Amino acid sequence: MRVAIFGTGYVGLVTGTCLAEVGNDVICVDVDALKVARLERGEIPIFEPGLTPLVVENHAAGRLHFTTDAAVAIAHGEVIFIAVGTPPEEDGSADLSHVLDVARTIGQALSSPAVIVNKSTVPVGTADLVRETIAAELSARGSDLSFDLVSNPEFLKEGDAVQDCMRPDRIIIGSDSAHAIGVLRSLYAPFNRNHERIVLMDVRSAELTKYAANAMLATKISFMNEMANIAERVGADIEQVRLGIGSDPRIGYHFIYPGAGYGGSCFPKDVKALEHIARSHDYEPRVLSAVEATNAAQKEHLHALISRHFEGNLKGRTIAVWGLAFKPNTDDMREAPSRTLLEKLWSDGASVQAFDPEAHEEVRRIYGNRADLQLCDSQYAALDGADALVIVTEWKAFRSPDLGRICAALGHPVVFDGRNIFEPATIEAAGLAYYGVGRGRSVQAPTRD
Ligand SMILES: NC(=O)c1ccc[n+]([C@@H]2O[C@H](COP(=O)([O-])OP(=O)(O)OC[C@H]3O[C@@H](n4cnc5c(N)ncnc54)[C@H](O)[C@@H]3O)[C@@H](O)[C@H]2O)c1
Repeated sequence: MRVAIFGTGYVGLVTGTCLAEVGNDVICVDVDALKVARLERGEIPIFEPGLTPLVVENHAAGRLHFTTDAAVAIAHGEVIFIAVGTPPEEDGSADLSHVLDVARTIGQALSSPAVIVNKSTVPVGTADLVRETIAAELSARGSDLSFDLVSNPEFLKEGDAVQDCMRPDRIIIGSDSAHAIGVLRSLYAPFNRNHERIVLMDVRSAELTKYAANAMLATKISFMNEMANIAERVGADIEQVRLGIGSDPRIGYHFIYPGAGYGGSCFPKDVKALEHIARSHDYEPRVLSAVEATNAAQKEHLHALISRHFEGNLKGRTIAVWGLAFKPNTDDMREAPSRTLLEKLWSDGASVQAFDPEAHEEVRRIYGNRADLQLCDSQYAALDGADALVIVTEWKAFRSPDLGRICAALGHPVVFDGRNIFEPATIEAAGLAYYGVGRGRSVQAPTRD
């Protein structure tokens, strides 16, 4: 099939590449000329495991093209995807300007019937708005071309995006058009062979499904963080509690890890956007507000532990930070908990020596060069002369470190484990003080200086 995709970010680039991989002829279009030029040279602007060879091979095979020329892409696409960003506005609502820009562009250039598919995460009712916007542009140029509009929200996870796209848990198709449903069924057939993954529904339900999924996952995280905070106060170990509750099949082990709070481009903005949607329909979303507030507080938790250990005086201290990306296997720093920690440490007068396997370029883009931030070549280089080690992102390489080396390098041998990746007893046996999240003894751990 001839496919056009607007937006070459995490969603658009991965979707376009996977559709090309199964034999479709795909043109990806982006307004960012630099990004398009890099993609044309085979340079992938994001870190996503397994993506680079797929982009390079499909580009070389002539099935995957990149352009800034929207008209070329629109003329090409029997199916046209909208996969542009929907960042949060000041009030938490989703900024639809990019989606509506694309809708206008499609309306201005469409020259043959097409199925237009919205993959961006958008408030309920946006499909109607997109449809009206395209129709208005068509009628302004006297065209009565027909087109279908489908809501097909995306559920890929950064870090696993290629795998998620190739083997999706579900493919939500929101549409009342038999034709559009048929077209998408054939487009997705290669990803739907093992068992039926397509869930058909109306457009508004599809739009809400995406927000409901992210809000549920964010709720699980905030709930566990709340339990961790209670565990810390009552002298219980949240890791034992986690195993105890996960064994109940109604709860399950997935996504019940306490930690430094959720970040990324999706959960924070989608929870806020859903709150906004609810309020704009005269409903006060009490659970969502609590999820969001609990997360905001959790992002400050590591700093509070560090500050308490050093008796409120972090001025002149150097803190080693392992992991900056909002989760492992990505370079995405959007709303990353590390940002809250770094900014609070800096405002206390501390310096940071950090290492992340993939996020340094993003961190430099966000913070520029500053004297109180050193991005180090390795996790051990970050320890040199530091007062403490903080684990913020649970990259695999951090899980079994050389504890003797950590102990020898740190001025004040103490580890703050923001993801509970270590056993407290192992760390303490190596001569290091240990603080985790919700691990009872953290509260009683002695101040060492
Ligand atoms: N990142 C994820 O893990 C993820 C997962 C599921 C859903 N989503 C949703 O998918 C959408 C896209 O997310 P993303 O992370 O890929 O965003 P992104 O910010 O990585 O990429 C968006 C791209 O769209 C481009 N763009 C903006 N306006 C354009 C226009 N008028 N024409 C062409 N290109 C344009 C930007 O230049 C950018 O390259 C969002 O609504 C997001 O909520 C994201």
